[in-house]
Amino acid sequence: MKTQVCIIGAGPSGLLLAQLLHRAGVDTVVLERHTREHVLGRIRAGVLETGFCDLMRGAGIGARLDKEGQVHDGFDIAYRGVRHRIDLSGLTGGHTVMIYGQTEIQHDLFEARDAMDGVTITEAKNVQLHDIDRDTPHVTYTMDGENFHVDCDFIAGCDGYHGVSRQSIPTEALVTYEKVYPVGWLGVLADTPPVSDELIYSNHERGFALCSLRSDHVSRYYIDVPVDTPLQEWPDDVFWEELKSRLPKDAAAALVTGPSTEKSIAPLRSFVCDTMNYGRLFLAGDAGHIVPPTGAKGLNSAASDIYFLSRGLIDYYKSGAEDGLKAYPVKALARVWKAERFSWWMTQLLHRLPENDGGFSLRLQEAELDYLLNSKAALTSLAENYVGLPFE
Ligand code: APR
Ligand code: PHB
Repeated sequence: MKTQVCIIGAGPSGLLLAQLLHRAGVDTVVLERHTREHVLGRIRAGVLETGFCDLMRGAGIGARLDKEGQVHDGFDIAYRGVRHRIDLSGLTGGHTVMIYGQTEIQHDLFEARDAMDGVTITEAKNVQLHDIDRDTPHVTYTMDGENFHVDCDFIAGCDGYHGVSRQSIPTEALVTYEKVYPVGWLGVLADTPPVSDELIYSNHERGFALCSLRSDHVSRYYIDVPVDTPLQEWPDDVFWEELKSRLPKDAAAALVTGPSTEKSIAPLRSFVCDTMNYGRLFLAGDAGHIVPPTGAKGLNSAASDIYFLSRGLIDYYKSGAEDGLKAYPVKALARVWKAERFSWWMTQLLHRLPENDGGFSLRLQEAELDYLLNSKAALTSLAENYVGLPFE
């Protein structure tokens, strides 16, 4: 099989890149190790920056997003039992975020891929990248015991943090940075009306809590727990009581509980691979960087990678120009590191992380919140990072 760009991974990064390239006449093959159902079954965040929504619209797949997504122009930070509204729109001259589940995005992306008759090979096993440092890279994989070979000009590694692409870069060429947090987020999805029309991030002495939503009848809640907590320690009733204990009184009283339809614990990690290009391999999305979910930047930082990489590849095939591809790592990382900073900052602001510094970090956090909630300049900085910094 031969194609122009072989994309590893059919997550949001891989399929959005494939769609943008297709609309510019660039041929792609997408290799995904799991089934479509498995990919669609993942429950992920649902706060979208304008930049991501514009990319989806530019790819011709923004219709359902615009019809069913909820525009949010603010959210609450609850601290010491008081809810402080962060007026995103007022602080950023009208910018907002869109609430639309990543599962829905995956549906829309798969649907678009089917509509253009794209080659998406699911259950591709033992994917391996070859000759990535030459002008003639290729990818091999197996399926039902048979070996397959894809010749291509470029490989886009959109296969997430645990994917094969980053691991295909020689260790001596890899420059990575990582910070692992001692907590994870226990997340619950429930078919219950959300406790509030807008998100509530709560910093409570018992720990962090987040009240989010997927629609007006599906709620999404999180509390932080020690990272190695077994899920069975959190039956629904225990979860609901703990969540209520971390919320302001009015929210706790308004909370509608119900059976969880999904429950999982995700570790918090900050990670960046500065080597986002090696020869004909380009990393994008979670394959290149991970953020703690606090600032909802995972998908939104993948968006700017896809923006820069798609433009670089399209320029190459349209005119042979390589400037965009050469500039990709610098442009992508400039925005990725700002998302890493913001996600780290918001995580430190809202979690009671166990630090062995005699309470110094806790007093710093109190000062940070006191300054933030009483300074328009600080609130503006929070708001412009939350709605999303410009791509370039
Ligand atoms: N071969 C083929 N496919 C692979 C391989 C492999 N060796 N390893 C991983 N994959 C697939 C995964 O099954 C997954 O479907 O690559 C895809 C990567 O998708 P994501 O992990 O969702 O990463 P990305 O597309 O960059 O999207 C980032 O998704 O994980 C969330 O929080 C993250 O919101 C962010 C967004
Ligand atoms: C979610 O709805 O899953 C969500 C929202 C905001 C975040 C993280 C997750 O910061």
